[in-house]
Amino acid sequence: MARILVTSALPYINGVKHLGNLVGSMLPADVYARFKRAQGHQVLYICATDEHGTPAELAALAAGRDVATFCKEQHLIQKEIGEGFGLSWDYFGRSSSPQNHELTQHFCRKLDEAGLIEERIDQQVYSIDDGRFLPDRYIEGTCPKCGYDKARGDQCENCTSLLDPTDLIDPRSAVSGSTNLEVRDSKHLYLRQSQMVDELRAWINSKADWPNLVTSIANKWLDEGLQDRCITRDLSWGIPVDREGFEGKVFYVWFDAPIEYIAATKEWAEAITDDDVADMQIPGGDPLDGSYREVVGFGEERDWQSWWYGDAAKDVTYVQFMAKDNIPFHTVGFPVTQMGSREPWKVVDYIKGFNWLTYYGGKFSTSQKRGVFMDQALEILPADYWRYYLMANAPEGSDSSFTWDHFAGTINKDLADVLGNFVNRILRFTKSRFGEEVPAGGEWGDAEENLVAELDQRIASYTAYMEGMEYRKALSELRAIWASGNEYLTVAEPWAKFKENPDAAAVGVRTGINLIRLIAILSHPVIPTISENILSALKVPVSELAWPTVPVEDLLTILQPEHGFEVPKVLVQKIEDEHIAEWTERFGGTE
Ligand code: MF3
Ligand code: ZN
Repeated sequence: MARILVTSALPYINGVKHLGNLVGSMLPADVYARFKRAQGHQVLYICATDEHGTPAELAALAAGRDVATFCKEQHLIQKEIGEGFGLSWDYFGRSSSPQNHELTQHFCRKLDEAGLIEERIDQQVYSIDDGRFLPDRYIEGTCPKCGYDKARGDQCENCTSLLDPTDLIDPRSAVSGSTNLEVRDSKHLYLRQSQMVDELRAWINSKADWPNLVTSIANKWLDEGLQDRCITRDLSWGIPVDREGFEGKVFYVWFDAPIEYIAATKEWAEAITDDDVADMQIPGGDPLDGSYREVVGFGEERDWQSWWYGDAAKDVTYVQFMAKDNIPFHTVGFPVTQMGSREPWKVVDYIKGFNWLTYYGGKFSTSQKRGVFMDQALEILPADYWRYYLMANAPEGSDSSFTWDHFAGTINKDLADVLGNFVNRILRFTKSRFGEEVPAGGEWGDAEENLVAELDQRIASYTAYMEGMEYRKALSELRAIWASGNEYLTVAEPWAKFKENPDAAAVGVRTGINLIRLIAILSHPVIPTISENILSALKVPVSELAWPTVPVEDLLTILQPEHGFEVPKVLVQKIEDEHIAEWTERFGGTE
C-alpha cells in the first residue's frame, strides 16, 4: 500500500468556478484519488479556496461585503458545490486559515535565513484621500493608446494593451474616485529566485516522466532567466508580513497560496470531523470552526507532517493537478519556496497539466457570463453526466471545445445507450424470466471465453491509462468495456435462447449481471453516483469497490445463483433536443 498525496490548484474565492476550471484541476484530481483509493492505497486529497489578492477584495467590494465575510460565505458555497460534484476531498481548507498565516511567515523566515530574501524600495501609487497604496487594478484612468476612459492600471480592457499605472491619463482611485494621488516609495521583500536557477533546472531535468506540456513551460521560464520576485504587497487583506518596517503589508497571494497545500493538511489534522461533532453532541456544531479544537485535543491520529516533512514523508508520492497557466507557479514558484527554505519539505513528484476547455471555441468568461458554471451545471443535470463528459473530453493534448450538441450526443450515446441500456436490459429480462435473483444452470462457452479475453486486455489498458492519468484514453477504454457488455449480449442472446434452452439463457444473464458489477466498479472513479446506484441494485456493498486484480474469469462468477437484485430506475435520462435548445439560449452558445 502506497501513500499518495493529491492536490488540485486552489480555486480563487472570487466566484463560483466554471467547467473549464473544474476539468483542469479538481475533477481529474478526484478521479485519480478515487482510483488510487480503490486500489487500496492510502490517499490524501487536499484542496482549499485561494482567498487573498486583489480579485478577492474587488469581488467583496462588488458584493457589498467586507472581505472576510465574503470569503467565509464563498468558501462554504464552493465547498458545497464541490461536494455536489462528488469531489472527494479529504479536506477543503482556506488559504486565510491561521495555519497558513503561521506557515507562510515561517517560510519567509527560513528563506531569509538562507539568504534568499532581499529588501528593495519600489515606487507605488498612494491615494492620499483613501489613506492607502493602490495596486494596479485599483487605479483607473484613460488609456493612452485608445482613449478608453476606464482602463485599469495593469491593462486596458478595451484595446488589451498592457499598462503601467503611471501610463494612465487622469488616473484616479477605483476605490473612491479620488484623483489626489502621488507616487511614494514603498519597501518590499523580493525572493531571489535567480539564485536557484541551477538547482531548479537540475530538478526539472530529473523529471523525465513529466508531461511535455509541463516541462516545456518550466524550461521556458528558466531559459528566459528567472527574475527575482516581489512577494509582498501594500494591501491590508492577506497574511501580514511579520517584519520590522513592514507594518500594514501582506504577502503576495501567489506566495501564500501554494503554501496552503501544506497548511490545509494541517487544518485537516487539527479539524473536528463531522463524526467528532456528532460524538460530542454539540447542537449545530460547525466542524469548520476551530474553537472546539483545544477542548478535546482533536486529530491526534492525523499526522500532517508525515505527508509533508522529513523522513516520515519519504515514501509519499505527491501528485499535483492544474491548468497550464498555473504551471510556472508550481514548477518554479512553490519549489523555490520549499527547497530554498533548506528544510526537508516534500516536493511534487508528478504534475498533471491541462490545456483549456473552451466554450464554442472561445473563452469561458466570468465577467461576460459566458459558458457554464459549476452551480448552474448541477441545477440542470446530475454531476455524473458532467464528470463523464468532461473527463472523456479532457483538454490534454490540446484545447478542447464544449458545445451543447457534442455534450448531449456524448451523454445520450455513451451513458444512456451503451451503459444505461445494457444494465437495464439485462436486469429487466432476468426479472421477467427468472425472477429477481441470479439464475443457476448452464456452462460457459465460446461467447464467455471471448468476453474474458477482451476484458483481460481492456481492463489492463484502462488501468494503465488511469495510472498514467491519460484520461481521454482511459475513458475510451472504459466506454469500450461498457460496449463489450452489449456485444456479449448480442452473441449470447439470452432472450432468443430462453424458450429452447433456459440453461443457456441463464449463463448469459448470470455472466451479464456479473459484468454489470465489474463495470460499476471500474466506472466508479469517473461516475461514482451512477456506479453506486448500480451496485445498490445488485445488492453489492460499496465496500466491495476494490480495483480488480484477479483473473477476469473469477470476476465474472462472483455473484452466484440466488444472489438477489432489483431493476434500477432509469439510470441515465437522455437529453432531449428541446433542452439543448433551451440551454444554448440560456448560456449563450454558437460562435
Ligand atoms: N487560484 C489560482 C488559480 O485559480 C490557483 C492557485 S494554486 C496554488 O489560478 F497553488 F497557488 F494555490
Ligand atoms: Zn486602450
